[in-house]
Amino acid sequence: MLIQINNLTKNFVNDEIITPVLNGLTFDIDQGDFVAIMGPSGSGKSTLMHILGLLDRSSGGKYFLEGKDVTKLSDDELAGLRNCKIGFVFQSFNLLPRTTVLENVILPLTYAKHKQAPENRAKKILESVGLGHRLNYFTNQISGGEKQRVAIARALVNDPAVIFADEPTGNLDSKSGVQIMEILQRLNDLGNTIVLVTHETYTSEHAKRIIKIKDGLIIDNYKVMRRRIAKDGETLK
Ligand SMILES: Nc1ncnc2c1ncn2[C@@H]1O[C@H](COP(=O)(O)OP(=O)(O)O)[C@@H](O)[C@H]1O
Ligand SMILES: [Mg+2]
Repeated sequence: MLIQINNLTKNFVNDEIITPVLNGLTFDIDQGDFVAIMGPSGSGKSTLMHILGLLDRSSGGKYFLEGKDVTKLSDDELAGLRNCKIGFVFQSFNLLPRTTVLENVILPLTYAKHKQAPENRAKKILESVGLGHRLNYFTNQISGGEKQRVAIARALVNDPAVIFADEPTGNLDSKSGVQIMEILQRLNDLGNTIVLVTHETYTSEHAKRIIKIKDGLIIDNYKVMRRRIAKDGETLK
């Protein structure tokens, strides 16, 4: 089991005002799964992704990542685990400005496990998402769809155990959005575990499991069938 969460809660506390956002979530995610988390705006999807992605801590409950109880880790241990186990793709891309496509993807390698030939590794991954011709462009010189493909390459470059994508198509035109979803599905077909937040049905159709959240509670969790699109023998890593 890759991820196990049990009765997970999150309250935000500002000026003595307590906002309960996650109210006791329990579910598992297997290695190789592709989970779509769906729910109305404000239901706690991003809050949950930040906790699962080790960018924030829960207020209560348990979170085991590869069997390790992450609620017990120090901030430094969490950051170390995040660097080597987690890839994150955000709706707003979060690329470094005034920096090239290639540099954005090399950066995570400078503080993690694949130290040899970082430039070659970053190039190979950028080529696998169709950006071999954009390596030396600055991030303000490429389209939104290309930016999100850079973000996916950056998420992949450390060979993470799981990729979290929070509404990755939310800022894209529909054609670029379809391309991003096809890349995510291909990555999953090649064995990568993906957790996607979306409110669009067409993107959730790429998932193998749907978890529906409302008011910080799970209201549905079910498996779905979908077609396989990766070509045999194709490698992205
Ligand atoms: N730092 C914060 N402080 C207080 N409330 C927050 C904070 N972050 C998110 N919230 C609240 O938590 C709720 C869920 O937010 P979020 O997880 O972003 O929802 P979603 O991604 O499903 O739209 C919202 O009501 C939001 O206002
Ligand atoms: Mg959100």
